Order: sequence, then C-alpha cells, then structure tokens
Amino acid sequence: MNLISLKSDLIKGNIVCPGDKSISQRILILGWLLNKNITISGFLNAEDPLSTANALNQISDSIQINGNEVIIKERTIESKNPENPIDLGNSGTGMRLIFGLISGLGIEATLIGDDSLSKRPMRRVADPLKEMGASNKLNIGGTPPIEISKGKIIDDFVYEMPVASAQVKSSIILAAIAAKKGITVIEENPTRNHTERMIEYLKGNIEISPIWWDESKSLNSFMGNKITYKHKELICPDHYDVVGDFSSASFLIVAGLISKSGKLIIENVGLNPSRSLLIKILKSMGGNISISKERMVSNEEVADITISPSKLKGFNVYDLVDVRADHVIPNIIDEIPILCIAAAFAEGSTMLSGLKELTVKESNRLAAICDGFDAIGIKYFSDRESSIKLYGNYNEDIDGAEVDSHGDHRIAMSFLVAGMRSKNGIKVRDCKNIETSFPNFTHIMNSIGMKINEED
Ligand code: S3P
Repeated sequence: MNLISLKSDLIKGNIVCPGDKSISQRILILGWLLNKNITISGFLNAEDPLSTANALNQISDSIQINGNEVIIKERTIESKNPENPIDLGNSGTGMRLIFGLISGLGIEATLIGDDSLSKRPMRRVADPLKEMGASNKLNIGGTPPIEISKGKIIDDFVYEMPVASAQVKSSIILAAIAAKKGITVIEENPTRNHTERMIEYLKGNIEISPIWWDESKSLNSFMGNKITYKHKELICPDHYDVVGDFSSASFLIVAGLISKSGKLIIENVGLNPSRSLLIKILKSMGGNISISKERMVSNEEVADITISPSKLKGFNVYDLVDVRADHVIPNIIDEIPILCIAAAFAEGSTMLSGLKELTVKESNRLAAICDGFDAIGIKYFSDRESSIKLYGNYNEDIDGAEVDSHGDHRIAMSFLVAGMRSKNGIKVRDCKNIETSFPNFTHIMNSIGMKINEED
C-alpha cells in the first residue's frame, strides 16, 4: 500500500494519544502470567500487541480484546505446548518477550515472524536465556525461527548487558518471573524501564540502584543501573490503564513543529523519562513545546503536550548538559527517524552517532533514512552503519519525491510527515506496516490538517 502526503501548512487540533505499544505488550504478558481476572483500558489495538495476545492465547486461552479494552480471565487450563508455531508477525518486542516467558514457563514452542522479523538478531536473547538454564535453537545466523525446548531456570542469575536493549532486559526478567526465580541485570546504558515500572506497580520485589564510578556521583560518574528482582508473588490489580505512546506522539509533535501555522494539543502522552528525551532535544532545537497536566498513571508519567510552529536549529548530542552523550541514543531509539525529519527542516547541521542498534530494527533504519534523504534531496554524510550528519533545509520546502519505507512503519510515518513540507508531495511506498504500531495514523494526521491519501 502506497501513501501520498501533500503539502499542508496549517496543523491544528486536539488529539488523544494512542496507547503505548511497549506497555500494551508487557501488561498482556504479565496480566496473562498472573492468571487472575483483569481488565485493561487504553490498550493499543494494533498488529504488534495483537500478535502478542494471540501468542499467549496459543499457550493458554484467556485474553479477549474489544477495541481498546482487554479482558484477561483466570485460566482453567495450565500452560501447554502450543500445537502450531507461534507467529509474532513484525514484532521484535513480541518475539523477544514471549521467548523469555516461554523459556521461564519450561514449555516447548517454535516462534516465527514475517520477512523482516525473520532477519532480526535473536542471539542477544537466546544466549543469556541459555546461561539461565533455558534451552533453545536458532536459525543459522542467529535469526528466527526459534525452537524452544524444556529447560530449567536457575535462581539469582546475574547478567551484564552487552547491548543496550530493553527487549533483552525484559525477556530475561520475564523468564525469571515465569520460573519464579530471582535475577540481577546490570545495564550500563539505561533503556526503557516499563517492565521494571510494571513490576513495581504489581508490588513485586524489584530494586533499581544506580552504579557510580566514584563518590562524586556526578554525571560522568554514572555507570548505569543494577536491577535486582527477587521472587515474590505479584499482586494483580483489577484494572490497568495503558498511557499514550510517546513514540506515536513524536510524529504529531514534529508535524506541529515544522508546520507554518496552527496549534496542536496531544492529550495523555506517556512521558516516562526513559522514553521522552526527544522533548528536551526538540526544545533545545528551538521547539515551542509546553507540558501541562502532569500526573502518574499505572506508575508511568503522563501529561498533555502543546506544540506550535517553530524555527528549529540543528542539534548535537553533546549540547545536552545533563545527559551523558552515550546514554542519549537508547532513550530516543524509536524517534531517530522522525528526529532526522525535524532536523531536515532546521537551520544548520545535526550530528547523530552511536546508531548501530538502528541498523537492526524493522529495517536498517539508518540506511532507510539515507535512501529517503537521497530521494527528497536532503544533504547528509553517513557511513550507514552508525552515524549521520545532515544539513537542514531551513525554511524552504523540498520538491517532493518517491520514498521507499523498506516495509518499516516508523520510516513510512516519518517521510509522510516530511511530505507536508514538499511542494509536489511525497509518495511513500509500502506503508502497510503502519498498522503494527499506529493503526489510525492517516485518519489522525488528516484530522489535524495533513493531506495523506492512498495511491489510486
Ligand atoms: C522496545 C524496545 C526497543 C524499541 C522497540 C520497543 C520494547 O527495542 O526499539 O520498538 O518494547 O522493549 P530494543 O530494546 O531492542 O532497543
């Protein structure tokens, strides 16, 4: 499915942010595991959370989804080896988290995914799970299908993360919880902490303590976090409310900033500090963004965000004074494509480095951004492996072109946002996977003034 995004100067309206994908997937898994009656609201009814729900129902049926509401029922049947391979579609989070869960349950299953997921690295999860006592086999090259056989998880496994990945961290923590064991994870580069936040919310025995180089406890002395979980029954609430997805909001935020007129309000945006550094970056670029109605929902920070058109200037990670430069990328990992679009319409250059993880997402996102910039005429230098320096087209609209999304939802949505600043429109090929994370994207973007249409 190809979409065409035409020039649109005015962006205005009031939008309620769609539910968070990472949190929707985690509460499905933990809610299922707790095996009590629970309802969930604000759930993201999109392909990725749906494939996670199907995976869980294949092990033991208890999840019913009605739009953005979910009912998880206490199960009468124990977890069983699923009869058929479990298909996680496009979802790396779904596959890696379910991998951990099944390993901890000590049952057998095969996990498969679509073409993109079948190329993604799984050794990063398979290896620590094996060290924990699980048993699994990957395809040559360390990719899916994943064959999980019966193993036995040890108690108090200690793992020092070699890669900054919340999926890996969450997978091994879920394996420990499912096996009723303890675990310690040492994370030098802090990643999104929704799993830890949820365990806290469920009154689990988890402790997160910062590690310092020296007594100064200064920014440069911060070495990351030690996360210790000890087995204790989690307490299931009757209800869980999923907050809005900051990553989805980021497309709306940048659309508001690079517009020529109007004012946009996004309500109920999740602002967990491990996810929302982009706000600080965009503000440091000159973005007119204000935050109101700050509150806590389900142990997650939430607020409303107001955005108005802004004269943006280029950005360098070293400009941020209160975050270690090497800690920036994991925090904005899913927002880098749309940050690059914001930078493409800023004055001056923007430099981003340490992007290796970006090359193993739903597509090689760094290469996909470079290809898109080639097509729309944004100047940049990139090794396509870990860094990009790009030059903003400040105040000038681009001509328009055809861009390939590489089947990647975030690349598709980013270049569709860029289309609002194109004289002749941007056509983005292969947009079907927007459904994996933001099903109403076209409708919502058009309701605030964008002009996105399906190609005839
Ligand atoms: C996610 C973690 C990130 C992110 C992904 C969702 C999660 O992946 O890119 O979209 O829900 O844990 P990594 O942990 O592999 O960086």
